[in-house]
Amino acid sequence: MKDVVRRNFDASVDAYTTYERRTNRFTSLARLLAAEMSARTDGGLGRVLDAGAGTGVSTRVFTETAADTIALDISREMLREIDSAARLQADFDHLPLSDQSVDGVAFTASLFLVPDPAAAVREAARVLRPDGVVGAVAPLGWFCPDGTDVFEQFERESRSPADTSALEDALASEFSTTTGTWKFSTTAENIRLFHAIPAMAARLYPKLDTEERVLQAHELLGPLDGTFEQRWRWVIGVPE
Ligand SMILES: C[S@@+](CC[C@H](N)C(=O)[O-])C[C@H]1O[C@@H](n2cnc3c(N)ncnc32)[C@H](O)[C@@H]1O
Repeated sequence: MKDVVRRNFDASVDAYTTYERRTNRFTSLARLLAAEMSARTDGGLGRVLDAGAGTGVSTRVFTETAADTIALDISREMLREIDSAARLQADFDHLPLSDQSVDGVAFTASLFLVPDPAAAVREAARVLRPDGVVGAVAPLGWFCPDGTDVFEQFERESRSPADTSALEDALASEFSTTTGTWKFSTTAENIRLFHAIPAMAARLYPKLDTEERVLQAHELLGPLDGTFEQRWRWVIGVPE
């Protein structure tokens, strides 16, 4: 499963960059998450692990906010886009960091991509200092103006490797947590653009090859029109 996720993101650099340039969505999420994490520390964020740094969108935000940022990702191709911070190619389940060596661990739109969020959360708890803070943001989906899930009208669900509730539970079992929801207005065009990212089209067509899955996603979402709401769940945890 993780090899598949890594290969999917290795093939997603250009489409991810196009989506972010158009929407600024991941920058907004990282800014909101950094603010929530900072609010729970005395004197600001020190050394932060940007867990699932991707092309560095969240890394840029944490570099502005924290004293020191480490960008970690399983995908070599995504990570190659980053030149602003120390980079590590690694898996959340085996962090190449010593115990209690960071003040913050930030999972900006990344923790829902693992099959077992509990294992990743245990690793985050291991590397975090006793007065540290962990933050995660994960998707709740897209909603029509009447509140129904956008994907209800299609024969496909938009499914992540881990449910957002599994990730909330995993964090709550290691940390004392606070949660909330961020909502963004978006368009049909931007939902199509999101699913033009091979790693995101895999939510709909996991078994098809890269090109075919993006084509199928574009075709499925073709009839979509209008304005929608995208919702993201955030979780902040501090050691108990
Ligand atoms: C949606 S991107 C978010 C990237 C970045 N945080 C941002 O805000 O743009 C998720 C990233 O998580 C990484 N990822 C997924 N599973 C991982 C794992 N098990 N270990 C490390 N990184 C992982 C992916 O390779 C991808 O780059």
